[in-house]
Order: sequence, then C-alpha cells, then structure tokens
Amino acid sequence: MISKETIEQVLMRNDIETLIGSYISLKRAGSNLKGLCPFHSEKTPSFTVYPQDNSFYCFGCGVGGDAISFIRKKENLDYPDAVEFLANRAGITIVRDERADQRRGEPKFDRAKMFKMNVDAAKYFNKCLFSDNPDAKAALAYFTDKRGLSVATIKHFGLGYAPNSFDAFSKYMLARGYTYEELVAGFLCGKSDKGRYYDAFRNRIMFPIIDVSGNVIAFGGRVMDDSKPKYKNSSDTPVFKKSRNLFALNFARHTCSESMILCEGYMDVIAMHAAGFENAVATLGTAITSEQARLMSRYTKKVIISYDADEAGQKAAMRAIKLLSEVGLDVTILKVPGAKDPDEYIKNYGADKFRALLIESKTKFDYNLENILSKYDINVSQQKIKALHESEKLISETYSSAERDIYIQTISKIFDVDSKSIKSDVDRIISRAAFVRKKEEAQKVKQDAIGYSDRVNPDFVKAPAVAKNEEALLGLLLLYPEHRKKVFEEQLVSDDDFFTELNRRVFDYLREAYFEREDSHTDMNEFFSADETGRITRMKLSRMGLTENGNAVLLDSITTLKNSVRKKKAEKNSSLEGLEKLLIDKRKS
Ligand code: UTP
Ligand code: MN
Repeated sequence: MISKETIEQVLMRNDIETLIGSYISLKRAGSNLKGLCPFHSEKTPSFTVYPQDNSFYCFGCGVGGDAISFIRKKENLDYPDAVEFLANRAGITIVRDERADQRRGEPKFDRAKMFKMNVDAAKYFNKCLFSDNPDAKAALAYFTDKRGLSVATIKHFGLGYAPNSFDAFSKYMLARGYTYEELVAGFLCGKSDKGRYYDAFRNRIMFPIIDVSGNVIAFGGRVMDDSKPKYKNSSDTPVFKKSRNLFALNFARHTCSESMILCEGYMDVIAMHAAGFENAVATLGTAITSEQARLMSRYTKKVIISYDADEAGQKAAMRAIKLLSEVGLDVTILKVPGAKDPDEYIKNYGADKFRALLIESKTKFDYNLENILSKYDINVSQQKIKALHESEKLISETYSSAERDIYIQTISKIFDVDSKSIKSDVDRIISRAAFVRKKEEAQKVKQDAIGYSDRVNPDFVKAPAVAKNEEALLGLLLLYPEHRKKVFEEQLVSDDDFFTELNRRVFDYLREAYFEREDSHTDMNEFFSADETGRITRMKLSRMGLTENGNAVLLDSITTLKNSVRKKKAEKNSSLEGLEKLLIDKRKS
C-alpha cells in the first residue's frame, strides 16, 4: 500500500488538465475543458475535464474520476501501478508504507534479491536441461529434434527444463538461502490450501523472460505434449509486469531501429532470431497492450506483425494494428502462407523465403483489400458488387481523407468503376456510421439514466427511485465537507438507509474517510473499480450543477431517502407475505 501523503503528492503534481491533454486534445468550454472521449468512439465531445475539482467525466460512456482513475483506465493498470506511473511522471519516488504492507499481508521485497533469485532459478533450469537423466534428455531432444533449435540458440536464450518433481527445485533454492515466502512471491513456488509448498513449474521446458537491463524477471514454461495448460507463465510480481515487457526485447533492441517484428509465441521469436531476424519480439502470453506499443515506439519506427495464420491470430493482428498505429508507428502485417505460424514457416521454407515475405508485408488497407479480393470472383457481377461494397466500407474506416482519396483511386482501377461514384458511396457510409453511433450513444445515456442494464450498480434496476435518492444524498456528501461533518457526527444516516450495495459502499467509504483519514478522498481508487469511480464522479457532478445545496436540501434529501427505502422494504415484505400466503394456500388445497 502507498501512503496517503504520497498519493496526495502524486495527485497534486499531476495536473489533470496537462495529464489528460497529453493523451487527447482538449478545448476550453467555460471553466472546464472538453474533448473526444478516449474510452469510446464519438464525434462530438462529451468528455469533460474539471480542473478546479481535479476530475473528469464522460457523459457518453460514464467513465470518470481523478488523475489516477484516468491512468488506470487509459494505461490499463491496477491501482498501485497507476500511482507509480504518475509518480514517475512527476519525478516522485514512491515510498511504500511498509507497516501498511505488512498489515495487508504483502511481504516485503528486495528487488535485487528477487532478480538474483530469478537468475539462480534460470541457471538451475538450464543446468537441468543439460543433465544426464532420461527426462532431461527428452526435454533437450524436444528442443533440438522436434523444434530444430541448435544448442547455441538454446544457450543464447538461456532455455531450460523444470524437472518433474514437486520439490527438487525448491530444495535447491532453499539451500541457496531463499525462503518459501520469496519463492511464492516470485511465482516459482505455489502454496496449497493445506499450507504445503510445491514447485510451480514441473516437467516443462522453460523460457526465461529478460528485461532490457538484462534482469531475469519471469518465466514461461511449456509442456512437451498436448496436455493443458500449454504454457504456464509467471503472474505479475514486484519485479515483473507482463503488460510492460516484451520477450527478447533485450536482444532485439540492438537491431530494431528501422523495424521490429512482433510475434505471438516465444517459439516464433526464437526461430526468427536463430534464422537471423534478431529484431523479433513477442508479448508475454497476453494480447498487446498500449504500454507495450509505446515501449516499442521508443525503440523502432516500424512494426511488422507476424501472428499465427489462423483466424484468432489474424483477428489479434487487427487489434494490434490499432494500438500500434495509435502510438505513431508504421505498421504492416505479414501472413505466412502454407504454415500455421512463422516458426513453422521458417522451418519448412527457410530464412530467405521469410525475408521475401517481410519485404512484401502489407499495410492494413492492402492486407484487407487482398482478403476481400481473394474471397470474390470479380468477373461475376454480383460478386464484384459485394467486393466493391466491402472495399468501400474498408476505406470508410480510414481516418485521413487524403489517404481515403488514394485508396479510392486504387479500387477505382481494380473494379473499373468511376472514382466519383466510389467517393459518394464512401461518404454515405461514413455519415451513416456517424448517425448510428450517435443513436447508440443517445440510447446508452438514456439507459444509464433509468439504470437499465446497469453494470456498475446492478441493484439500481431493482429500485431506481431509491437509488437516485441515494445518489442525490451521496452527491451532497461528496461535494461538501460541512455536510459530511453534520451527517457523520450526528449520525443522521446509517448503512441501513441504503438499498443498493454500491451506494452503501460509497457511504461507508466516506464515513471511514471522515473518521479515520482526516476526511481525505485521495485513496478513492484503492477502494473502487475504475467504472465505479466514474459513477461516483457522476453523483458529484449532477449535484454541482444545482444552485441550492444547503442544509435544508441536505435534510430534505435524507428524509426523502429514508422514506423511499422504508417504502421499498415494506414492498419487499408484503411480497414476502404474499408468497407465504400463497404457500399456505397451496398446502391447504
Ligand atoms: P501458441 O499456442 O502459438 O504458442 O501461443 P507457441 O509459443 O507458438 O508454441 P508452439 O509453436 O505451439 O510451440 C502463443 C503464445 O501465447 C501464450 C504464450 O506466450 C505463447 O508463446 N500462451 C499460449 C500462453 O500464455 N498460454 C497458453 O496456454 C498458450
Ligand atoms: Mn505457435
């Protein structure tokens, strides 16, 4: 846990206007700022930043909160990591409150020791791979015979083998001075419900993950047959965030200034490096994140996506294109013909053929256009129309109008259709899509207003009127310290006055903050999800718009809430009575 002082400092030093302004462009609107929401697609800005309040809220999709909430959502980080991200940004060193750490049962970590533990583990797995027993020999044969790796490549990547034993590894590590607590923290050991420790990786070939500074930060372990799960990966540890690292970047960074190849699998990367393409990297068992995209943009200008040939791989490639283009990288896609993945392609056809594919890798438009043209026979007019229409739709998804014009020329030639009619089709598709999106947004706002399909507060639908009264009161409490003082000191409201679980939690949170944390709300993100902070911000905002928020309004809102909850509970009871009566009647008959 991070101390309250640190969080306050982090929030103070990260001016919300500059922070969000570094992600999206904001325009002044009175005392606030507006921009296009980075969390949902919209054409008219409903994303608002409130500098005085250090908060933001999107009226289109309901995200909101403070600077930490923004980074949680935007960078896809959990709470402590978001705080650390902002601390780094502001040049603050985080002092984690150790007492709090212990209270929460989080052990203390010595990063240097953690790295050393991982190196020792990697050395152990590597030594096991080259040992004499039959299991190890089979593992080595899997690498060399089945996967075609040379011993030099195996050594280069520090690959290894985790023996088929529940304690061989941990016995070795304990003897070297590591504790079970440290091994568990590093995901090298697990702990059973009965409290027994066991080695996390057993009978798996091991891929150490090494960061750009050369530290071993994690492991991936693959089975050698078809059993499941195929890979076991270290979860995030104090020294490892999978969303922030890339496999083999420690090697690739030396040769990737022009371009980088992004693969799905560790084995693809290894095969590429062995074949001379040392600018290949892979994500760590997850889809690519915007952090990884940004990391890549620090090292290279262009990324060639080389994912598996199957549908899942190609779909993932489309998502990757989006994230990578967003950080300003040139992106192309390479599809391996006649193989399931790049590893298999290189094995079957060789490095030279793969080099030729790299040169021919396609931009998103060319790649998709090629897919469309391969689906249809454009000599048949019905099929030609379909292909033309899909191509027009593809062009309509391009943001730049200059780029659209170029593509329109391209397909005008391919289909032998006048570019003017293509252009008018494309324009129609664009305005139609904008219309649909607007309608959907309006629909969503409406649904949110009545609480229908409310994911954030699922109890809302059960009693919308009560929930609204709760939110009105919470809004007043969130906005005014004097109201908090009155309500909490005089105990005017209690837990029982809340019907929906989320709103009761917000109330508890405020009360606890009042009595235990000097009324500070800087830690909101620690207790609420990113979606919930959005809801809390909305409660505050809807009150901010009202002119009359004084004592009388507070007392009135308390009475209204209490009455509506009482009514709701009575309803519940009477329907219970009804049910009982029904059951009794049934028994009688
Ligand atoms: P693949 O199934 O394509 O694995 O998953 P691969 O590494 O190419 O293995 P081969 O070629 O079958 O030997 C791609 C990546 O997805 C992650 C791993 O990072 C893997 O390298 N993955 C896959 C997992 O994390 N867990 C799994 O169970 C499967
Ligand atoms: Mn694969």
